Amino acid sequence: MENISRASFIRMGMLAGAAFSLMPSKVIFGNNSDKLRIGIIGTGLRGQELLRLCLQRDVTLVPAICDIDERMISSALSLYEKANQPPPTVYREGAYAYRELLDRPDIDAVLIATPWEWHFPMAMDALDAGKHVGCEVIMALSVDEHWQLVDKVEATGLQYMMLENVCYRRDVMAIMNMVRKGVFGELVHMQAGYQHDLREVKFNNGQQPYGGGVEFGPKAFSEARWRTQHSVERNGDLYPTHGIGPVSKMLDIHCGNRFTRLVSYASKARGLHNYVVEHGGIDHPNAKVDFKLGDVVTTMIETAKGESILLQHDTNLPRPYSLGFRVQGTKGLWMDVNDSIYIEGKSNPHRWENAQSWLDEYDHPLWKRFAADAEGAGHGGMDFFAVNGFIEALKAGTQTPIDVYDSAAWSVISPLSEKSIAEGGCSQPFPDFTKGRWENRKQIFALDDQY
Ligand SMILES: NC(=O)c1ccc[n+]([C@@H]2O[C@H](COP(=O)([O-])OP(=O)(O)OC[C@H]3O[C@@H](n4cnc5c(N)ncnc54)[C@H](O)[C@@H]3O)[C@@H](O)[C@H]2O)c1
Repeated sequence: MENISRASFIRMGMLAGAAFSLMPSKVIFGNNSDKLRIGIIGTGLRGQELLRLCLQRDVTLVPAICDIDERMISSALSLYEKANQPPPTVYREGAYAYRELLDRPDIDAVLIATPWEWHFPMAMDALDAGKHVGCEVIMALSVDEHWQLVDKVEATGLQYMMLENVCYRRDVMAIMNMVRKGVFGELVHMQAGYQHDLREVKFNNGQQPYGGGVEFGPKAFSEARWRTQHSVERNGDLYPTHGIGPVSKMLDIHCGNRFTRLVSYASKARGLHNYVVEHGGIDHPNAKVDFKLGDVVTTMIETAKGESILLQHDTNLPRPYSLGFRVQGTKGLWMDVNDSIYIEGKSNPHRWENAQSWLDEYDHPLWKRFAADAEGAGHGGMDFFAVNGFIEALKAGTQTPIDVYDSAAWSVISPLSEKSIAEGGCSQPFPDFTKGRWENRKQIFALDDQY
């Protein structure tokens, strides 16, 4: 009963909305506590960054963590020492130990940073236990699982936020600011993706953290223990949210706009096999693995307001990192790969201009407000904002800046693209997770200096 009353107390705050946001945090959390109590499930490399960010804050406590890998648990515990905080209770016995953490009445919310295949069951169990959920990308693996989570959030009145940090990248937010101020005119076409050479990560064997072993699965370390298996079994855009999240916020998806359908194509798969052969030799057992994931997966998405979006997933070939953003409207465009911009009437005709002075001029108010707090946080500071958005919304009792509908629409691209590829490039209709409400919902993401 106690956990229900804590959660419903915060739910009541959500319903009260703005009125609660004016109150001090002390009033929001019940049980004589002025702190938001968070449990972290999965304290691998990502979970440790989330933990570090939570331990830095006055308003949060992390009295419980769960992981099943002693090396990761021990690294997580050292963060408590560094932060001068008492050690948490650790739940570590078996794959379902997280359910003991969820049984605790004193936990208000969980952050989930486990392998993708665990996100859906853990989030469902957490919502059933009355906890708000902040989950790492992605949300679930099948279309049906995405629906189940949306339904569960609606039934419980709890919050679900996918912690999509790239929505908060400084240049991306400055460009969103320019979009909102009409600098690009009416938006017409967008590009983005996940273009990151992950071959070393995929085959890391723990002995050579950055040196490129060729093992994955139980012999490997961190993501290589589980992520590579997805490349063996699946062919589609496995990681769409870093690209589509920011694009979605710029296009006001679910606030008068929505994705309507997509098509995906996959290139042949060469990169991972070649990497094993080059680094482990042709006789290495992994040289016989038949990787299903095409090296470059290209997805086209159509929106209700007539924009086109091109998304690419490109993780298995040699290349420098780039999310490949292109924001293009009737008055000009920006591309992140060469940091360039062209605005008709302002830039020299037919010439690219370096974007930096524009990015400075339109620096988002949220960044101006929180730049000092974000210093030192992962991925150039943007990790701070994702966690901050989740915590501040729960604290204020308002809607999280990325909600369950955003999370589902961005993440469902993976199973839809897999289906499109499997059907030879057939168009896939997009589920409308809002059930029609997208037409009249109002944008709340990063309005001025609000999270
Ligand atoms: N937003 C970002 O920029 C970003 C960056 C990196 C990773 N991620 C995401 O974070 C998540 C975790 O990635 P990572 O790099 O930390 O991987 P990781 O392998 O380092 O961490 C995953 C952790 O989950 C633990 N785990 C596995 N099954 C578990 C279970 N049943 N119960 C409890 N713990 C369990 C593992 O032992 C491991 O410590 C993934 O979804 C990944 O896509 C996001």
